[in-house]
Amino acid sequence: MDRLVIEGGIALHGEIPVSGAKNAALPLMAAALLAAGSHTLHNVPRLRDIRTMQALLGHMGAVCDHGDAMTIDTGNIHTLEAPYELVKTMRASVLVLGPLVARYGKARVSLPGGCAIGARPINLHLKGLEQMGVDITLEHGYVSASARRLRGAAITFDQVTVTGTENLMMAATLADGVTVLRNAAREPEVVAVAEYLVQMGARIEGAGTAEITIEGRPALTPGSIRVIPDRIEAGTYLVAAGITGGRLTLTHCIPDHLEALAQKLSAAGVRIEVDGSGITASRSEPIHSQDVKTWPYPGFPTDMQAQFMALMTLGDGVSIISEQIFENRFMHVLELKRLGADIELDGRSAVVRGIRELSGAPVMATDLRASASLVLAGLAARGKTEISRIYHLDRGYETIERKLAAVGARIWREKG
Ligand code: EPZ
Repeated sequence: MDRLVIEGGIALHGEIPVSGAKNAALPLMAAALLAAGSHTLHNVPRLRDIRTMQALLGHMGAVCDHGDAMTIDTGNIHTLEAPYELVKTMRASVLVLGPLVARYGKARVSLPGGCAIGARPINLHLKGLEQMGVDITLEHGYVSASARRLRGAAITFDQVTVTGTENLMMAATLADGVTVLRNAAREPEVVAVAEYLVQMGARIEGAGTAEITIEGRPALTPGSIRVIPDRIEAGTYLVAAGITGGRLTLTHCIPDHLEALAQKLSAAGVRIEVDGSGITASRSEPIHSQDVKTWPYPGFPTDMQAQFMALMTLGDGVSIISEQIFENRFMHVLELKRLGADIELDGRSAVVRGIRELSGAPVMATDLRASASLVLAGLAARGKTEISRIYHLDRGYETIERKLAAVGARIWREKG
């Protein structure tokens, strides 16, 4: 297995182009199942999860080609199943459930199973589909769903769920009648999916707010859309500027999507300057410890918690970081402690006491954002850091070592 090697202590300077958002591209690819024909997605990142979704769509009969743009032809879907072998490597596979049962009346999707950061059930997805008239049975680790035709329903989510909102919004576009989703997720990726569905002929109001109304249509038609920039990739590189004491400008991003993080970084002593589709982070003063509580958008993103914690390990005081979304998203703590960090866990909170300097060591990636946190800490640590199991990192960061090396980092990949 590959590993990343980093010689830390170098302030990073330069420009980094932000890639398309993984968490927008994945539901957009699933949305192609709603309308037979050729769909075109621009700015799709080249990531492991994207290749997994391509394999899943291919398994169903779609023809998916990822050239400069990605084209997905769903004119010949012959298999309405998402097998365990594929779903177990990527939970976002559950996003095919809504489109399949809405367009074809049937679907058999493997239950995703847990993952490193939590149990991550899909009960809210299933409950909403049942309210839309879908018969759901669970057997042999699979969800079997069937419906003659979905009917519109008023659905209130017990808690905010991003892919739950996306799954039901997609299903509702072909239902008979109006569906209202309340306590819906407001993430930019949800808005991106809604924009594509509307381009395909769907009638959707309220995407980006907590209440989304979808008026079902008899059929949709294929379209084309550009995937929005990845706000979490962008946020990760903003922290890279802060933790190394350098100055990085991120291009091709949407600064508005980073508001909560930018505010916390500014309070922590990282200077943030916004200029159109560019955002610059730099630091010339000490890192000020900040408390953070993760929260659904537009709150502080859970997907930036591990990366921000890396910065806080070098703070001038004590930072309390509380993870409100997932029950086990502190896998990076033990690895950060191997680099010298002073962190104590207390239930859903981590108490981070800032230290003067991290020191490089061999560490192990456990999940996607935890591995990003280790890269950031390694960039700041004195000496060499080796990160193993970086297949986690490759799920969500396009050529991260090339992008960092281009702005001065001494980082390279070693075949393991
Ligand atoms: C999406 O996951 C993202 N993935 C995650 O990004 C992100 O961390 C998460 O939203 C929260 O922002 C994609 O968009 C592909 P949820 P999702 O449903 O939709 C509970 C990354 O790093 N819940 O919003 O699976 C759940 O257990 C990944 O790119 C239920 O209980 O997350 C969690 O505690 C990691 N029942 C909370 O809700 C359900 O049916 C939020 O989960 C659904 C969710």
